This record gives sequence, structure tokens and C-alpha cells, in this order.
Amino acid sequence: MPIPQHFIQELLDRVDLVDVIDRVVPLKKAGANYVACCPFHREKTPSFTVSPTKQFYHCFGCGAHGTAIGFLMEHQGLGFIEAVEDLARRVGLKVPRESSDRPVKLRADPDMLDVMQRAANYYRSQLKRSERAIAYLKGRGVSGEIAARFQIGYAPSGWQNLREVFSDYESVALTTAGLTIRSEEGRVYDRFRDRVMFPIHDQRGHVIGFGGRILEGAEHAGPKYLNSPETVLFQKGQELYGLFLARRAIREAGRVVVVEGYMDAVALTQHGIEYVVATLGTATTSQQITKLVRHVDDVVFCFDGDPAGRGAAWRAMMNALPMVKDGLKLSFLFLPPEHDPDSYVRAFGQEGFEDALKNAVPLSVYLIREISTRHDLTTQEGRVRLLNDAQPLLQQIQAPGLGLLLRKRIAELAGVTQAELESLLKLGPSVAKPRLESQVARQSPVLTRELLKLLLFRPSLATRVDVSAIPPTLPQMEVVRYVIETVLAQPDISSAALLESLRVMASEKLCRYLTEQLMTLDAQTFDIESEFQALMNKLERLGHSGNLASILEKPLHQLTEQEKALLRNYRRSAEPK
Ligand code: UTP
Ligand code: MN
Repeated sequence: MPIPQHFIQELLDRVDLVDVIDRVVPLKKAGANYVACCPFHREKTPSFTVSPTKQFYHCFGCGAHGTAIGFLMEHQGLGFIEAVEDLARRVGLKVPRESSDRPVKLRADPDMLDVMQRAANYYRSQLKRSERAIAYLKGRGVSGEIAARFQIGYAPSGWQNLREVFSDYESVALTTAGLTIRSEEGRVYDRFRDRVMFPIHDQRGHVIGFGGRILEGAEHAGPKYLNSPETVLFQKGQELYGLFLARRAIREAGRVVVVEGYMDAVALTQHGIEYVVATLGTATTSQQITKLVRHVDDVVFCFDGDPAGRGAAWRAMMNALPMVKDGLKLSFLFLPPEHDPDSYVRAFGQEGFEDALKNAVPLSVYLIREISTRHDLTTQEGRVRLLNDAQPLLQQIQAPGLGLLLRKRIAELAGVTQAELESLLKLGPSVAKPRLESQVARQSPVLTRELLKLLLFRPSLATRVDVSAIPPTLPQMEVVRYVIETVLAQPDISSAALLESLRVMASEKLCRYLTEQLMTLDAQTFDIESEFQALMNKLERLGHSGNLASILEKPLHQLTEQEKALLRNYRRSAEPK
């Protein structure tokens, strides 16, 4: 359910961006603003600037920008709704939802969070008492320090151990949380028994689920890993094991290694490769990849060397394809078939693993290699099959650079020209629309950007813009119209709320430009009134000259009085002085 716009406004009015940021990135006062070294890129002198009056931030180094909502999304890797909910909680607001036909998004239940945390604490306390479990972890090379970092625990054997922690053990709440199971006869018993427990955290560090591994010699007692069922808190395809703990390391390294298993993540961390997350044994989903690329632009998938691991790599690539942007580096590290990341790092150490990382195969190379080795390219049939295989893959790629490169390479392999390939697969090179060679097209991006800047600076100006006087063909006009409509619907909207609402309409580049401009505008010296007037005049003149072309094409007798006047004016202004 969408969150109503007015709530976003109220929220952004109530929270103080300076507080929100200062908690995690200590800020220093610098004139009217606050500054810090940018948390989104490496730098030695601060160019990350926070405006307390405008309530948004902008980094003059890397261009990162946004409001309090955007900051939480970028910095903590939260989704929009999560970020709004987080901020609302801080200021004691409840997030209202506009009803719609879409399914209700499951909400985190604070009681369930508490239940999970209490269970996690219990399992941890039990690990200290179980020599068997400690010996098992030691045997796998896990130190006490790393066990503590991952908050690894132990669920003892026995059927109702959680009674010790929960007085209302029979409560359905525990069953819904996935900690207990109800038999058909109505008996309640612990889901996790005699297992080493790996708590799974969400991005804020709450325990939302568990994975429990069977101990050596107890393999008859069920699957090797037993996971929490999907609950309102825990949806397997959305979470990445270890992401909360690894956030900092990932940022510092500028890269993340994605593995499949709990123990792979633990072992790599144990050996000093802390920038690691695990996918919980399912195919890497596009949501998981989206989460990761909010933190880094270098993602290495490292799965087991066996056929299952290769399958997982292929699926990860398929899910990653639509997400790929030029400038985002995705690569694949294939270990020897007898290894998984855990055994590899234990055999070859940090250095050995990092050396292997250097040989990770870029996505484009991997894709070509895979599809070309599947078919015999010396035969015509093989080349046709190659083209068939390639089609769905190529269609998913949004990134122009990568798309072009792959089309070229696949055309070569299939023995066709790139143009033939494109028409065959109905891909069509993403041709830019031919640009209007008119004065309108040449001037307009600047003018509409200027207008947006002024509107964001002082939203109330929107009431004074005559949209009908501006040529509708100007690029970004849909953004201008959107801004004006938003302000008319909500006359007291703040710049920050307006900027936030633009996120869905305007390109990243435009938003970046706007925050940068706004950050440098000084309310004291900037004469917004005369800037606005001048701009409106320019736009009106442009509107006229845009009309002019169509007026000139019409026979004279069809012109309205107004159009004739325009034409006279134009002729006069075009005469040499
Ligand atoms: P693996 O079988 O490769 O496990 O499954 P692993 O991590 O190497 O296990 P160890 O080293 O023997 O402890 C990879 C992942 O698949 C999921 C788990 O998330 C596991 O970490 N899995 C595996 C399950 O959920 N259930 C299972 O029974 C097995
Ligand atoms: Mn393993």
C-alpha cells in the first residue's frame, strides 16, 4: 500500500536530518551547513554537505544526495518503506497506508522481534554449556571471537527447552515465529533440537530467523540445515546472511563476496575476508542483488565448485542481468570442484582466497563462455541454438554498454553481423530518439532544469507558473508538471518533501543536479524573485517561437487574431535594427 504523500511531508518535517546523519556519520559545522567525509566514497577532505534548513544532503565529491529517507536507504541499504518506517518510529509517528488493490505488505511485528531475540540469547547461553557443540565449531576452525560475532548458539536436544525462556510456551506466537511446532494432536515442541544455531539478522541487526546445523554423528535426525520457516519477518529470498555484520567491511573493501552457505560466510570472516554474505542456499534473487548494489558496485559470486554450485552461478547471473548497470562490476569465482569457499579458505588462507578473487570471471565473459560451450559452433544448427539461447539473455540487459558488447560478441560467434543479430532477435539497438533541431530543443534542458531548481527552492512559486505558456515538447516537462501538481495539491510542501517525491519521476542525474544547485544557493543573496521572472519570460518567448513554426505553416486566413499578433511581433523583432 502506498504511503500517502502528506505523511512523507510530515515525517520529513519532524525528523532532523542533521540528527539522523550525525548519529552514524559525525558532522562538523561549516557556515550554514554541516560537513563530513562522505560515507559513500573514500575521501580525505569533507565534501559531504548537510543543510539543516533545506533538510537534505549532497556530496560535492561523488554526487550522493537525498533527504533523511534517502540517507537511510543509501547508508543502511533499506528499502523506501523500511526507511520511512524506521524514521517514523524515531519520532513516534505511525505510518498510514492508502488502500489499494495490491496485497498488504507484511509488517514487522515488534513482539515477534522480541521473541526472536530472546530465543537467540537463550541459544547463545546454551552454546557455552555444550562441550559437544563447542568442539564441533572448534573442529571447523571457528574461534570463540567469530562465534560471538555471528552470535552463534546451540539448541540443546530435548523437546521443550524453550519453556525455560517463555512462560507462555504453548502460545501460538512461538509457532508463528517458527520456534515451535504443533503436532496434529496439538502437542507443542521445539523446532530446533540439538543443532548449532546461526541467527539471521535483518539490515538493522534484528534477529529475524535461524539456521540450525546438525552436529556430526546426528545426521539421521533430519536435514543438515534446518531453517526458520518464512514468517512476516523472514522471507528467505529477501535476506542475506551476514549482511548486517559485514556492512562496514563491505563499504571499506568496496566489494562483496556472495557465497551460499552459513559456514562459508563464517569461515571467510574467520580468515579475514569480512566482506562476505550468504544467500541461505537458495538461488540469488534479484531483491538480494538490489540490496547489495546499494552498498557496493563490485559483487563477486563465489559458489561451490560442484555442478550444483555452477547451477547456482547461472541462476544468479540470470537474476542479475536486469539489474546490471554499466559501471557495476559483477563477477564469478569458480573454485575447484572439490572445494567450497569454507574449505578453500581453510586450505589456502586469506591470501590464497584473495588471489583466487583476482581471477574471478566478469559476467560478460562468463555468459559468453557458458552459452558458447553448450553448442557446437562449427555446425549451423549449433549456431542457431546459440542464438536461441542468447535471445532471452540479451533481452534482459538494460545496460547499454554491456548489451552492445554482448551483441557484438554473440554475433561473431554465430557468424552473423551485429545488425542481422539485432533484427533477428528483435532487439534493436537502443536508438536515441532523433533530436529536434530547433531552438526549443537546444535551449530547453537548461531552462526546465532552471525552473525545477527554482520550484524546489521555493515550492510556492508553482502557483505562478503558467504551464500552458511553456512549450509542451520541452524535455523534462513531465517533471515540471508533476512538481506543479504536487505543490498545488499540497501548498505547504517543503523542499525536502518535494525532492523526495521527485525520486520516482526524475532521473538520478537530474535529482543530483538539483540538490547540488540548491546546496550552493544562498537564501540571503539569491534574488529568487527576479530569477523567476527572467526565466518565465524566457520560457514564454520560447513558447511563442515554438508556436511560430506551426503558425508559419498555416495559410494566413486560418490564423487567429492572437496568432497574427504574434507573427507581427516576430517579424518586427527579426528585422535588423
Ligand atoms: P551446503 O550443503 O553446501 O552446506 O549448503 P555448507 O554450507 O557447505 O554446509 P557445511 O559446510 O557442511 O556446514 C549450502 C547452504 O544451503 C542451505 C544452507 O543455507 C547451507 O548453508 N541448506 C543446505 C539448507 O538450507 N538445508 C540443507 O539441508 C542443506
Ligand atoms: Mn561446506
